[in-house]
Amino acid sequence: MPVSQRPDPVPQLNWEPKRARRLGEEAVGLWEEFLGRLPDLPIDRGLDQEQVARGVLMDVPEEGLADEDLLEHVRKVVFDYSMYPGHPGFMGYISGAGTIPGVVADFIAAMLNQNVGGWRLGPAANEIETHLISWFARRFGLPEGAGGLIVSGGALANFVGLKAAREAKSGWDVRTEGVSAGDPLVLYASAEAHDVNTRGADMLGLGTQAVRTIPTDENYRMQVDALEAAVRSDIESGMRPIAVVASAGTVATGAVDPLPDIADLCERFGLWLHVDAAYGGPAILSDELAPLLTGIERADSIAFDPHKWLYTPHSGGCVLVRDRQTLLDAFSIHPAYTREDKDRTGHGIDMYELGPQFSRSFWAFKIWMSLLAHGRAAYGKRIAHDVELAKYLADIVNQRPDLELMAPVTLSICCFRYVPQDLGEGGGREEYLDELNERLMTEVQLDGRTYYSNAVLRGRFCLRPCIVNFRTEAEHIEQLVDVTGEIGQRLDAELRDPSQVFS
Ligand SMILES: Cc1ncc(COP(=O)(O)O)c(C=O)c1O
Repeated sequence: MPVSQRPDPVPQLNWEPKRARRLGEEAVGLWEEFLGRLPDLPIDRGLDQEQVARGVLMDVPEEGLADEDLLEHVRKVVFDYSMYPGHPGFMGYISGAGTIPGVVADFIAAMLNQNVGGWRLGPAANEIETHLISWFARRFGLPEGAGGLIVSGGALANFVGLKAAREAKSGWDVRTEGVSAGDPLVLYASAEAHDVNTRGADMLGLGTQAVRTIPTDENYRMQVDALEAAVRSDIESGMRPIAVVASAGTVATGAVDPLPDIADLCERFGLWLHVDAAYGGPAILSDELAPLLTGIERADSIAFDPHKWLYTPHSGGCVLVRDRQTLLDAFSIHPAYTREDKDRTGHGIDMYELGPQFSRSFWAFKIWMSLLAHGRAAYGKRIAHDVELAKYLADIVNQRPDLELMAPVTLSICCFRYVPQDLGEGGGREEYLDELNERLMTEVQLDGRTYYSNAVLRGRFCLRPCIVNFRTEAEHIEQLVDVTGEIGQRLDAELRDPSQVFS
């Protein structure tokens, strides 16, 4: 039988360890410079898409770049064309600053290149993730037998919780027969719940209309009597209620729904309680703040995001379930090519059985290393400090005649707006304030000294800083207020004739 020619080695992609080290050392040098310069960099450079594309894009070369050219490119990406959520003045959206040990962990995780989908493809990684999940589950007060996994972020963590709810509460085998094989399934979330939950219902084939929107009280918390009325009405009209999504830290104001009352209702109607704690969940690490989450220990599933308030680098969210079996029921598959005699190998469960992904990154490592490096107590203290800073901002807002507080501060979000002092109270005022504050947010974001995003509360446009940044201190709060006043005054002068008062 002819044997094909023996292929020669192709070593190009297989760099010598010394060359790997050189590139790594250059990157570490860049990191040190980055950390040193971070407070003095503009948070955002105000560049448009074309400018960024022109600055960073090049054709893929036929021959690889020299290391110096590669590093020159990286340097441009780092210092000239990025924005900096780790900057002490960054308080936009809910975007953690990125822990320092987490950066090293991501490097090591990429170096090891574990596939945490299968136990045998990442032994230590799988054990660390499982242990981390148990630790989080205990902190939240879930019982023995709880489980979960690290996923890409809050959107997927909520989706996994709702998928588990669908399989547990529909009453037939939806995985096999589909959603149309029984009564229409419905679930409930407050008007302030994050839109990813509605999209989750869409992804589950339930349709966005299956999510009943429950009104909130004056503090943006779900009204439980309205929830009960909606559940009763759906049952009467032949729907099958399966779950309630309670928020523990809404994205707009940080409101925490009345979890014990919602848990009681779920118990009475046999509903799955899913808590979207993507933002507020890490408050459980602070002894002082943990009581705000009372009732979360009764949840069937909890979504929370280490990349938000545990400050770990993007991305990494976490979903916990009261009973790990519910994840197996929702996601387990048995591909023929992944057979293993676990009695012989003694290996653990394959995590692809617990969630929607098959191959999985070692995301858990950056969370694990950050917790090991800092310890629970330092985390608890810093998280509580973020809340103190948000309250400090609310105090300043209340003292300034040109600012108006728009919602109570529960966690580390403070909603307010800029109100020119001579504005008057008459018709058109609110519309003008919406326009002014929206422009103000945009100009502040492009200015680069401080950074926040917005909320829309009862139809009104609000400025909304959220502190999930371990570099932010009181001076940055004061700067935020000063920059807001300065740009607000300038914009008001541009937009409004001084004689135009709303009387
Ligand atoms: C309450 C809540 N749920 C879900 C999400 C979505 O999380 P992620 O952006 O990690 O997918 C967010 C994001 O801010 C959130 O605040």
